[in-house]
Amino acid sequence: MAHVVGQEPLIRMVNIVKEFPGVIANDHVNFELSPGEIHALLGENGAGKTTLMNILYGLYQPNEGEIYIKGRKVKIKNPRDALWLGIGMVHQHFLLVERHTVAENLALGYTRRQVNPLNEIRDKIREFSIKYHLKIDPDSYIWQLSAGEQQKAEIIKALYSGAEILILDEPTSVLTPQESSELFSIIKKMRDEGKGIVFITHKLAEVFAVADKVTVMRKGKVIGTLPMKEASKEKLASMMVGREVVFVIKKKPFKPGKPVLEVRNLVVLGDRGREAVKSVSFTVREGEILGIAGVAGNGQKELIHAIVGLRRIKSGRVRIMSTDATNKSPREIADLGVGHIPEERLKFGIVPDMSVAENSILKSYYKPPYRKGFLIDYSKVRELAEDLIKEYNIAVPTPGTLAKLLSGGNMQKLIVGRELKRRPKLIIASNPTFGLDVGATEYIRKMLLQERDEGAAILLVSSDLDEVMQLSDRVAVMFNGEIVGIVEPEEVTIKEMSLMMSGIRLEEAVK
Ligand SMILES: Nc1ncnc2c1ncn2[C@@H]1O[C@H](COP(=O)(O)OP(=O)(O)O)[C@@H](O)[C@H]1O
Ligand SMILES: [Mg+2]
Repeated sequence: MAHVVGQEPLIRMVNIVKEFPGVIANDHVNFELSPGEIHALLGENGAGKTTLMNILYGLYQPNEGEIYIKGRKVKIKNPRDALWLGIGMVHQHFLLVERHTVAENLALGYTRRQVNPLNEIRDKIREFSIKYHLKIDPDSYIWQLSAGEQQKAEIIKALYSGAEILILDEPTSVLTPQESSELFSIIKKMRDEGKGIVFITHKLAEVFAVADKVTVMRKGKVIGTLPMKEASKEKLASMMVGREVVFVIKKKPFKPGKPVLEVRNLVVLGDRGREAVKSVSFTVREGEILGIAGVAGNGQKELIHAIVGLRRIKSGRVRIMSTDATNKSPREIADLGVGHIPEERLKFGIVPDMSVAENSILKSYYKPPYRKGFLIDYSKVRELAEDLIKEYNIAVPTPGTLAKLLSGGNMQKLIVGRELKRRPKLIIASNPTFGLDVGATEYIRKMLLQERDEGAAILLVSSDLDEVMQLSDRVAVMFNGEIVGIVEPEEVTIKEMSLMMSGIRLEEAVK
């Protein structure tokens, strides 16, 4: 391990082992962070990245291993210890108190200082705002802030506590591309001042955009650490996945047919009674994938729920294959030939406490051949489940296994398999590959394209911009409940997409 004499690494984690029931989340992991370094921690979902950093932040105790901060061996029993050692962490899910202001949240937090008069905190926030271009008003309430602003508030909170080491866990998942690049300049500035930054991600492009060094984890182990000049996209991807990865999906030419889904002037209320979907209109035709891009939380969920019957439509109409489907029940809509691949797998996708076999007939148990008189024909159900398991390569011991015991990827394969097996004319897929590994992701994308080629109409909502751009024939961008534009993926740049995702209409975006 070559570092300049006299310049101790900020962090040295040695042979860290962390076991959870049934899984070794960290298996003898070594990790080092130097001052003035942005170190990407790259790996697929479940690789053990968050666990490793939660250990450093004192949220978990390792079963084995040692931690050194600036050469001194330490025990980090809780986040308070971590902050005393100069370690700050911004979690994937923010931990700010919504009904307080930014300044009040800082006053509430752990800090190395004794007293925190609000005025002093306000000044400090302004100072950080200027120094790092972290534009934020100390007196705005957390609930008033966008996800990007809340993240800035979290970063300011860490800086305020005196952090020299900043851990960011998948920080771009709630940001537009524009906000992401702002974040990158902020952390580069911190790096240039000698702070150390751990940047957790599963996105290769981000590693190339910010990191000086990258450590790749897979299944709890460190596969390797490389300086960026030795890294290539192909190399990192194969380290991450354990095999070669195909980056470009081949798509057959686009031959749209008759309209299948027609949405007109749809208005849907959100949980807080405000309009979450504001007069949205679009059409999806046979053989077409219409993508809906946008940062999560801009009305996509309410739109999908309204179409599939899980949420009431306030005004406007939905027609599915020329039948009025406005405010019909989920079962009536499913029976029109609609397959739904929901984002909330455990809530709307499967029944966790039922078996894989029972889950495979959730949408058809009341129909032949599964129903005989008043009874369900379990041999037929088992047959179907066995087919699905084979066809979709679902890792499960038997069809009788409870669905909740499946991994995320296998759960999703079961849902996708069940929905596609019914040969739907319309498929509604909401973040279908969210949280899945590269293998399962590739597979599910291929299945969707295959259905499109066979004439299904697909409405694909995804907050993964690459996914929407790769799969869709047309892309609608949603912002604040409205569709700000519908474009063809080949005719827009990522920059234009990014502007649209922050609410700027395309005519203005291309000016
Ligand atoms: N609190 C926990 N209890 C049980 N298992 C956990 C817990 N946290 C993480 N795991 C498991 O540890 C493994 C690594 O998870 P995690 O560190 O979150 O991965 P990553 O951040 O790379 O996606 C996964 O198999 C996950 O299910
Ligand atoms: Mg994680």
